Amino acid sequence: MFSDRINRIQPSLTLQMTSKAGELRSKGFNVINLSVGEPDFDTPENIRNAGINAINSGKTRYTPGAGMPILRQAACEKMERDNSLFFKPEEVIISCGGKHSLYNACQVLFQSGDEVIIFKPYWVSFPDFVSVTGAKPVFVNTNPESQFEPDFEDLINSINPNTKGIIINSPSNPTGGVWSDDAVKQTLEIAKKHNLWVFSDECYEQLTYDVEFKSIATLTNDNEKILTFQSCSKTYAMTGWRIGYTAGNSKVIKAMSKLQGQSTSCPNSIAQMAAVEALTGNQEAIPKMREIFKSRRTLIMERLKSIIGVNCAMPGGAFYVFPDFTHFIGKILDGKTINTATDIAMYLLENKQVVSVPGDGFGSPNNIRFSYAASDQNINDAIDALENVLNKIN
Ligand SMILES: Cc1ncc(COP(=O)(O)O)c(C=O)c1O
Repeated sequence: MFSDRINRIQPSLTLQMTSKAGELRSKGFNVINLSVGEPDFDTPENIRNAGINAINSGKTRYTPGAGMPILRQAACEKMERDNSLFFKPEEVIISCGGKHSLYNACQVLFQSGDEVIIFKPYWVSFPDFVSVTGAKPVFVNTNPESQFEPDFEDLINSINPNTKGIIINSPSNPTGGVWSDDAVKQTLEIAKKHNLWVFSDECYEQLTYDVEFKSIATLTNDNEKILTFQSCSKTYAMTGWRIGYTAGNSKVIKAMSKLQGQSTSCPNSIAQMAAVEALTGNQEAIPKMREIFKSRRTLIMERLKSIIGVNCAMPGGAFYVFPDFTHFIGKILDGKTINTATDIAMYLLENKQVVSVPGDGFGSPNNIRFSYAASDQNINDAIDALENVLNKIN
């Protein structure tokens, strides 16, 4: 019944876990949800008001397909201010969230016969963005002890004449890893040598806690084949507004606009006006949110470190920890053998109503992703429950 295209992709695991949390809540359970990939803060007031003003002032019609000129300009100003990236509006396209931006870029650059490098553990959607085009995702290992930077030997061995692109995501979902400048530069050199497109998914660019974030395109003079993806979602607590943007080669931007014009027409006009305020208005909310996330990172890491058998490297950014549960694999929980960390995550969900995301969906079956975009109380309660479950394992 369905096309090969739709059969090539999987439903988003993170969205599935979020809907599981909703189901349990509707049955009256007190659910602790550490599966979420979004800030638990409201969109800042100045941005909300810009949305309301957009409605009241009639900014409620179709906009140009690539986004309102004022917003493309705002994205340029933002990237110059925060990232030392210098783009012209025609080198920027606004889409319905960073996810849509990445999807569109894959559609215009990759096709059957191509291979695209994805680092493992990976954000759940990367392999599907690639597979849906007919291209093949090729997974490269990373090192958990050094912020999940690439295993360079594996990277070099994975490249062949069919390799067309490489997707970098630092800070990373699900690991929180933030690559060093050296690791980025080394990756860019390899990409250049093989003439690859480099996608830099920078949706967590404002959420690094130990080192200042540097946009990947600033680490080389040769950035013709680098596409930079940013988003209002995580930075401004605007996940539901659905605004993301891509910056880079104007020919690629034009091709993405063509595709967008024939699919969504344009991003939502009200959200676009709110995004202008987000990108160019008062930025005070960002450091406040960052400080809160940083203190939660300390809390969850201290709690995890005190549990024997759980191995978790300190993530440098985003709002996730990705502990390793290898120590428990093959042992028994309530009479059942633990085959992968998914068994622990599902037990936590069903018996303690703690929602997490099993590492399987990120290509790392011995890990579980916990989001710390949650209150200290919820973090403590969730880790108490995890500790309790792990204590039952023998
Ligand atoms: C790594 C990564 N990239 C992109 C996105 C897309 O975010 P949005 O479409 O809300 O901009 C997400 C969201 O979870 C993400 O984690």
